[in-house]
Amino acid sequence: MQDELDYGPLKELIGTWHGDRGMDIAPEPDGAEENPYFETITFTAVGDVTNAESQLLAAVHYTQVVQRKSNGEVFHHETGYWLWDAERNTVMQSFTIPRGLAVLAAGTWNGERDDEGRILIDVIARLGDEEWGIIQSPFMRDNARTGEFSHHVRVGGDRLFYQETTWVDIYDHLFEHTDTNELVRRT
Ligand code: HEM
Repeated sequence: MQDELDYGPLKELIGTWHGDRGMDIAPEPDGAEENPYFETITFTAVGDVTNAESQLLAAVHYTQVVQRKSNGEVFHHETGYWLWDAERNTVMQSFTIPRGLAVLAAGTWNGERDDEGRILIDVIARLGDEEWGIIQSPFMRDNARTGEFSHHVRVGGDRLFYQETTWVDIYDHLFEHTDTNELVRRT
C-alpha cells in the first residue's frame, strides 16, 4: 500500500453518504413502477492493486443499500469496486447485484468537472462488449436480459448526484430502468 496513492476522481467519493430523494423506475408486467427511495452508500479506500507488475490501480470498495420510502424494505442491494487507472485515464466500476448479474463498466476521465468544480464521471457497459461487459445467469439472459448499463456521477462539496440507466429486455419489450438520487456526506 502507498501512503500518497492517487485516487484521481474517486477521492471525493470516499466516505459514507445518505440520500432520501431517490426515484426508481422499474419494469412490471403491466408497465412501469415508480419507487421513491432512500439509501446509504459507503465508499471505503482499499489502497493500491498492481496487475502484471505494471498496471497500478487505486481501489475503492462500496456497498449501496436502497430502501423503499413506502415501507422501509431493502429492495436493491449492490456491492463492488470503483477503480482508477491513472496511467490510462480510465475509471472502472465493477459490481454485482443479487439477481445473478455482474457488470464491469468503464469510462475515461480527463479532469472533467462542472462549473462549480464538482467531478463528473461517466461509465458504461454493454452485453457482448469484449472490453466492458455484463455477465448474467441463464435465467436472466432468457427472461430479463440486461443489455446496457450506464452511470453518470457528479460529486463534490459534500454532495453526490447520480443517474443510472439499465436497459432490460423483459416482458417482450426493452425497458429503460432508471435510478437517480442526490446524497449528502455523513462522514
Ligand atoms: C438504485 C438502484 C436500483 C433499484 C432501486 C432497482 C429496483 C428494481 C425494481 C423495483 C425492480 C422490479 C422488480 C422487483 O420488484 O424486484 C427491478 C428490476 C430489475 N433490475 Fe433493478 N434496481 C436498481 C438498479 C439496478 C441495476 C444497477 C441493475 C443492473 C445493472 C438492475 C437490474 C435489474 C433487472 C435486470 C431487473 C429485472 C428483473 C425483474 O424485474 O424481475 N437494477 N429493479
